[in-house]
Amino acid sequence: MASVNLSNLSKRFGKVEIIHNIDLDIKDGEFVVFVGPSGCGKSTLLRMIAGLEDISAGSLMIDGKIANDLPASKRDVAMVFQSYAIYPHMTVRDNISFGMKVRGIPSKEIEAKVREAAEILQLDELLDRLPKELSGGQRQRVAIGRAMVRDPGVFLFDEPLSNLDAELRVHMRAEVSQLHQRLANTMIYVTHDQIEAMTLADRIVVLRKGQIEQIGTPKELYERPANVFCAQFIGSPKMNILPAELIADAPTDVVHVGIRPEHLKLADDQGRLSGTVTAREYTGSSALIHVKLPSGQTVLLVTNGSETGATGDSVLLNFEMEDLHQFDQSGNAISQS
Ligand SMILES: Nc1ncnc2c1ncn2[C@@H]1O[C@H](COP(=O)(O)OP(=O)(O)OP(=O)(O)O)[C@@H](O)[C@H]1O
Ligand SMILES: [Mg+2]
Repeated sequence: MASVNLSNLSKRFGKVEIIHNIDLDIKDGEFVVFVGPSGCGKSTLLRMIAGLEDISAGSLMIDGKIANDLPASKRDVAMVFQSYAIYPHMTVRDNISFGMKVRGIPSKEIEAKVREAAEILQLDELLDRLPKELSGGQRQRVAIGRAMVRDPGVFLFDEPLSNLDAELRVHMRAEVSQLHQRLANTMIYVTHDQIEAMTLADRIVVLRKGQIEQIGTPKELYERPANVFCAQFIGSPKMNILPAELIADAPTDVVHVGIRPEHLKLADDQGRLSGTVTAREYTGSSALIHVKLPSGQTVLLVTNGSETGATGDSVLLNFEMEDLHQFDQSGNAISQS
C-alpha cells in the first residue's frame, strides 16, 4: 500500500503545457476518482503517475519517495486500461501469470497468486479460455487480475468499464468497490461516469483544462460545489444556473444562482418562479420537465413520474432557499451561512 503525493506537477507536450501545477495528496488506501471533460488531462495525469509519461516539472512521490525518474516497473503501481490490453493468444491463466514469469517468480508462487486472483474475480472456471471466448466484463476482470497479482501499492484505472454495456457496468462497478474493500490498496480511477465517480470515490478530483477545480468527497461536491463549473459537472441532470435578479432575496454580491433539478418543485399557488412547460420526459420512476421562464431560459426539474405538467401548461416553481447555490461575478461559490 502507498500514498501518492503530487506537488506542483506539470506536463508539456512540446511547447504546449497541458497539466498545470497540480497539488494533490492521496492517502494510503484511499479511493480517488478523477473526473473532467474530455481532453482535460485525466489520462495524462494517470500516465505520469504510472511512469508512462515523463514529468515536465514538479515532484511525484509514491509511498513517501520521489518517483519522478523511476521506471514504471519500479513504481509499485499497476494500471488497468479501457481497452483491456490483454494478450489475445494467451489463456486467462497465462495472461495473469505472464508478468510474474517474466520476473522469474517461482511457479508455486505464481500458481497461488493466480488462484487467489481468479477466486476474487470469479475467473476460476475460465482460466483455460482465450480472451476471444470471454465477455467484455470477463476480459476486463482478466486485466484487473493481471494488475492484482503484481500486488501494487497503487492501482491506476483509466475508464476501465467504459467499453461495457450498461448492465455489466453496474455489476463491475460493484466488483471494483468490493475489490477495494478487500485489498485496501490505494486506487486512482478515471471515469466519465457520474455514478461511478459518486459511488466509488472517497474523494473526487474535478479537473478542467489541466487544473484542479475542486477536491472533495462526493457529498461535498454535490452539496457545496466550489464554482459554477463544478456545480454543473457533478449531478445529473445538471444544475440550473440563473441570473440572480430572478430570485428576490439573493444577497447583492450574488450574480448567478443555481438550483438542482431535483430541488425544484411544481407549486400549487405561490412560486418563486413561473414558466411554461415545453417538454416532459417520462422515465417511469421520475419525469424530467422542461420549463421555459419568461426570460426565455429553460430550467429542468425532476419530479416523481405521477406529477402533472403537460406541454403548454403554465406552472409555478418553488424550492427551498437552503437548496439555492449562490455564485459571484467570477462564478465562484459564495458560501451560505
Ligand atoms: N502524446 C501527446 N502529444 C501531444 N498532446 C497530447 C498527447 N497526449 C495527450 N495530449 C493532449 O493532452 C490533453 C489531455 O489529454 P488526455 O488524454 O490526458 O485527456 P483526458 O482528460 O484523458 O480526455 P478523455 O476524457 O477524452 O480521455 C489533450 O488536449 C490531448 O490532445
Ligand atoms: Mg482519457
